[in-house]
Amino acid sequence: MADLKTTFAGITSPNPFWLASAPPTDKEYNVRRAFEAGWGGVVWKTLGEEGPPVVNVNGPRYGAIWGADRRLLGLNNIELITDRPLETNLEEIKRVKADYPDRAVVVSLMVPLDEDAWRKILDRVGETGADGVELNFGCPHGMAERGMGSAVGQVPEYVGQITEWVKKHSDLPCIVKLTPNITDITKPALAAKQGGADAVSMINTINSITSVNLDEMCPEPMIDGYGTHGGYCGPAVKPIAMNMVAEVARNAETRGIPISAIGGITTWRDAAEFMSLGAGNAQVCTAAMTYGFKIVQEMISGLNQWMDQKGYATTSEFIGRAVPRVTDWQHLNLDYVTKAEINEDLCIKCGRCYAACEDTSHQAIEMGPDRTFSVKDDECVACNLCVNVCPVEGCITMRRLKPGEVDQRTGMTIPAEDDKRTWLEHPNNPDGDPLTCISRGQ
Ligand SMILES: Cc1cc2nc3c(=O)[nH]c(=O)nc-3n(C[C@H](O)[C@H](O)[C@H](O)COP(=O)(O)O)c2cc1C
Ligand code: SF4
Ligand code: SF4
Repeated sequence: MADLKTTFAGITSPNPFWLASAPPTDKEYNVRRAFEAGWGGVVWKTLGEEGPPVVNVNGPRYGAIWGADRRLLGLNNIELITDRPLETNLEEIKRVKADYPDRAVVVSLMVPLDEDAWRKILDRVGETGADGVELNFGCPHGMAERGMGSAVGQVPEYVGQITEWVKKHSDLPCIVKLTPNITDITKPALAAKQGGADAVSMINTINSITSVNLDEMCPEPMIDGYGTHGGYCGPAVKPIAMNMVAEVARNAETRGIPISAIGGITTWRDAAEFMSLGAGNAQVCTAAMTYGFKIVQEMISGLNQWMDQKGYATTSEFIGRAVPRVTDWQHLNLDYVTKAEINEDLCIKCGRCYAACEDTSHQAIEMGPDRTFSVKDDECVACNLCVNVCPVEGCITMRRLKPGEVDQRTGMTIPAEDDKRTWLEHPNNPDGDPLTCISRGQ
């Protein structure tokens, strides 16, 4: 049986599955039950500075996007950081950590851009026995309007400055949680690294409006006739989060900093994908809010089985293994040619592939009089749109042309492996200039 134990930024946990800072981790009652269910760690719901607790709205705080089966695909929220007294949270953290010494207990923090405010809260957290802190530079609503959360995360100088303060005033491992509401995630990641962060985590939620009530002409969730943008999360954000994790993992300047992956993780496979792209562990929020704490058991057993199947004894054996395969467009093999193939035995004759290819792709699918569908190799550009719209998995596949075969669309003979060309060697780029495509605005 594979060993799922992980050490992330010096913090050990029996498995790589942590609950992200959010409602599932906002009190002792929840966290104890989460640990009983099997979660390897938690990042406690973000604490703010001493004083009157934060006030949340008292109307609905969530918007949602569903799939056709009403499965929750995306969730948006306008909740703030914890609205429970600081002292109560700290006492609970201390008790929980004492009772679960083998689990990771990380405390999320968000206080104003002021060194003394950070020193004060770090002193208090240090007394709880917690394993580390996560700096919430990501929350995009409410707190950002008060100069915290994503308002900090969007300014790399602030990210670096606060990280330096935290490292100056605390010995605890420091994870900097980044906002995705920024053009280039490597900029704040680099600032965190230069500020001395032990790790970064990503992503926090994405600015969003999920729906508009057309009777009231108001975005939802609606609070007394008004709506505001909220933070988007859940399965829908996973592709965005994975790209950001991969960018930080492969960027020359940020490469090597441990990454805690967050964003739409619902199954062991999601976690394994993020980890293959360089994440050291996986944090989960929406999936726990949708299916309950016990989903971690599926995650643990699924990851275990997959690792056994693949012969990975520990997670470190596959963490980052897909990173070298992430490249820029200009390095892709332009002589890699495939053609769509339809398996008539599986086809249910719905015609979706035909409509998609005929109307929006390359008119490469022929419909016979008896609704048999076939691909015209001399028209197919291999875009694989038909594969993606076909409701039958495995019905349309892409066949790779071998060296020596002729592409009937272009008349080109597929070159030998050693002669393959990327954009840099392609005759349409006579200067072999990587910037040519950019300067032409393509
Ligand atoms: C209701 C709600 C409250 C959240 N509160 C916090 C918070 O206090 N601090 C924080 O760092 N992230 C907070 N998050 C963001 C999550 O920790 C996580 O980054 C995000 O939901 C993406 O993960 P997911 O797709 O698994 O939900 C919150 C998310 C939700 C849905
Ligand atoms: S791969 Fe693209 S071009 Fe080829 S048949 Fe499918 S949709 Fe048409
Ligand atoms: S989309 Fe798939 S199932 Fe539908 S006609 Fe095309 S190949 Fe057949």
